[in-house]
Amino acid sequence: MSLLAEDKGISISCDASQPMPVKGNHVRLKQVVVNLLDNAIKYTPEKGAIQLRVLAVNGHAVLEVKDNGIGIPPDALPHIFERFYRVDQARSADSESAGLGLSIVKSICTAHGAEVEAQSVVGSGSCFRVKLPLAKN
Ligand SMILES: Nc1ncnc2c1ncn2[C@@H]1O[C@H](COP(=O)(O)OP(=O)(O)OP(=O)(O)O)[C@@H](O)[C@H]1O
Ligand SMILES: [Mg+2]
Repeated sequence: MSLLAEDKGISISCDASQPMPVKGNHVRLKQVVVNLLDNAIKYTPEKGAIQLRVLAVNGHAVLEVKDNGIGIPPDALPHIFERFYRVDQARSADSESAGLGLSIVKSICTAHGAEVEAQSVVGSGSCFRVKLPLAKN
């Protein structure tokens, strides 16, 4: 994903220093990270910044993907996890976007007993948080 970010001069920092064991399907969980990062890169203008963080909160592993991109309007925020929902076709130069990425993220999270939530401010950026139960060995 850093190669894609590089094309737009976007920096990606990653703070994942602590081991955070979770149980799940490796391929699917990777798809969650890829989809969230893909969005962060796509909806952040050139020279932006993306911060990835993994932290433990109350027996859960939390993955945070934060960008300083275009943000999501409050009226759109409740709908972004719906299939084929896109805030505004004109916002993205990528005509191949189908509005499916976040619905896939949501269903993978549900299958793993995980929660996903988004916070966003138009013009400031977005933060997506995935909360997965920590594995007990
Ligand atoms: N990080 C983000 N910053 C701003 N808007 C976002 C972000 N992530 C998602 N969105 C908005 O939510 C909509 C839904 O996201 P989703 O990933 O489901 O679809 P998509 O990126 O448009 O298409 P696809 O993922 O199928 O290529 C996007 O069209 C975009 O408007
Ligand atoms: Mg997407």
